[in-house]
Amino acid sequence: MEIIIQPTQAGATIVAARIIGSLMRKNPRAVLGLATGSTPLSLYRELIAMKLNWSQVTTFNLDEYVGLPREHEQSYHTFMWDNLFKHVNVAKKNVHIPDGSARDIPKFCAKYEQQIRDAGGIDLQVLGIGTDGHIGFNEPTSSLVSRTRIKTLTRQTIADNSRFFGGAHKVPHHVITMGIGTIMEARQLLLLAFGEKKARAVAEAVEGPIGAINPASMLQMHPAARFCLDDPAASQLRHSDYYRWVYENKPDWQKV
Ligand code: PGA
Repeated sequence: MEIIIQPTQAGATIVAARIIGSLMRKNPRAVLGLATGSTPLSLYRELIAMKLNWSQVTTFNLDEYVGLPREHEQSYHTFMWDNLFKHVNVAKKNVHIPDGSARDIPKFCAKYEQQIRDAGGIDLQVLGIGTDGHIGFNEPTSSLVSRTRIKTLTRQTIADNSRFFGGAHKVPHHVITMGIGTIMEARQLLLLAFGEKKARAVAEAVEGPIGAINPASMLQMHPAARFCLDDPAASQLRHSDYYRWVYENKPDWQKV
């Protein structure tokens, strides 16, 4: 794992955007796994400003609420089009977001997995982290080898996301999410976390034991996982001095 710590969210975002931009320039047909929530908003703004060529890029989003129509203002379809896709030259046919209105959810999930395989797999998956350590919507105790499927949100996640819905009672209880096994197959993982409220989940993921109780801890098993953190999100890491030293001393050929 590479733990990149920057003083501010803006600084960590620029590092993450550079990593994605460099991949897209090297591989114009890159397959990107994308995330929603507050965390990637600054990343998407940065990527838009970079004026990259998205014309041949394929995207797969991590998750979607079950029961929200695409056009619902809080659906992740709406989120992605408002905050990224409508500002770049991505081809609509190359955008994939789980369908929260699917009638046959297991069938839809199997198809989503197949679409990822057909696209050649995900080159880089962007991730946030929940205050409970979830990635995608793989809540604590999710199987570490799970595939795309329906999940029930924890009360904590419902409370965390109630700010978007104007009340916890309006947050759907079910979601479709890529599984941890699905995420682990991406060739690179890029987890972003900002703010002190993520510090405990980040510390457990990076330095705690690997376990389903903190799904992000599974990133320890990935050969190319990066965490991009601001100082507050890194504040509970015991070895932060070492991570900073490693990053400052990267050989030139390893720098993005
Ligand atoms: P947030 O959510 O970016 O809104 O904090 C992160 C997540 O739940 O993965």
